Amino acid sequence: MQFPELRLRRLRKSPTIRDMVRETMLTSNDFIYPLFIIHGKNKKEEIKSMPGIYRYSVDRIMEEVDEIYELGIPAVILFGIPEKKDEHGSSALDDSGEVQQAVKKIKKKYPDMVVITDVCLCEYTSHGHCGILTKSGYVDNDATIEVLAKEALSHARAGADIVAPSDMMDGRVLAIREKLDEHGYENVAILSYSVKYASAFYGPFRDAAESAPAFGDRKSYQMDPANIREAIREASLDIDEGADMIMVKPALSYLDVISLLAEEYPFPLVAYNVSGEYSMVKAAGKMGWIDEKKVMMEILLSIKRAGADLIITYHAKEAAKLLRENKKF
Ligand code: PBG
Repeated sequence: MQFPELRLRRLRKSPTIRDMVRETMLTSNDFIYPLFIIHGKNKKEEIKSMPGIYRYSVDRIMEEVDEIYELGIPAVILFGIPEKKDEHGSSALDDSGEVQQAVKKIKKKYPDMVVITDVCLCEYTSHGHCGILTKSGYVDNDATIEVLAKEALSHARAGADIVAPSDMMDGRVLAIREKLDEHGYENVAILSYSVKYASAFYGPFRDAAESAPAFGDRKSYQMDPANIREAIREASLDIDEGADMIMVKPALSYLDVISLLAEEYPFPLVAYNVSGEYSMVKAAGKMGWIDEKKVMMEILLSIKRAGADLIITYHAKEAAKLLRENKKF
């Protein structure tokens, strides 16, 4: 009898055997690419804190979408940066807003591309909070979900396949489902940002979307990073209200949460590999401190291994290119 660990070594000795016994497979079909749509014309602006990621005006968005489509990435998630912001985030409801126009444009050229829209008010409010504020400066949950349902309806009317509320208000999934059904959009799915932590990893996104809160923080509506049992409560509420898919965000510091929800719920599970996670890899790569591509693939693989079915990631294009070249990592 040999030492039992030799069985492990024998399975690692050749690349072909390693491939055969690989448990987790990453493919470009796993990715959702985030796109920032900014007001104005003829704009393609690189986001300083997110190298390689741009904000496009609607007229130039297809430059990016063509590439995504050709790489075999099946879906995009859209974020709008409007010209006008006010206390109520009213431009979020504009049927000819940036996101709505972009949805129409993408669906017209690529009807089979899955278009997801982020449903939130933080990019549209002058104060940068995710909802309507009461006089005392708290987010008014009930007034906010009314507006979110209308925002989701406007995205559905434009042709969105999936709406993704990221605000963390209570009852918004039900309010959105009812509003969509009432207007004949039974086939539009809801991907709920169910488990969204109050995280410092969103920093670069807030530069990109101009959505940092002008005062205070989001701790009253986003989750405490210390909690995991609460994630089950958040996810089950959203599922009861009608969410078709659920999300954990951020991904990397929350792999345990992804793993728990993957076991707990037979619903598609999405992980958001957020801006700060992306930018750290880029920065360290630029300094020559890590092998950027290998680290990127290892991170994406770890998110999938933890149990995510799909990954929203700014790395999607680069990773899809490497996968297409059939590079081994
Ligand atoms: C809110 C929203 C945020 C992100 C996605 N949707 C920001 C926030 O909650 O402050 C963050 C995504 C990222 O960091 O990549 N609309």
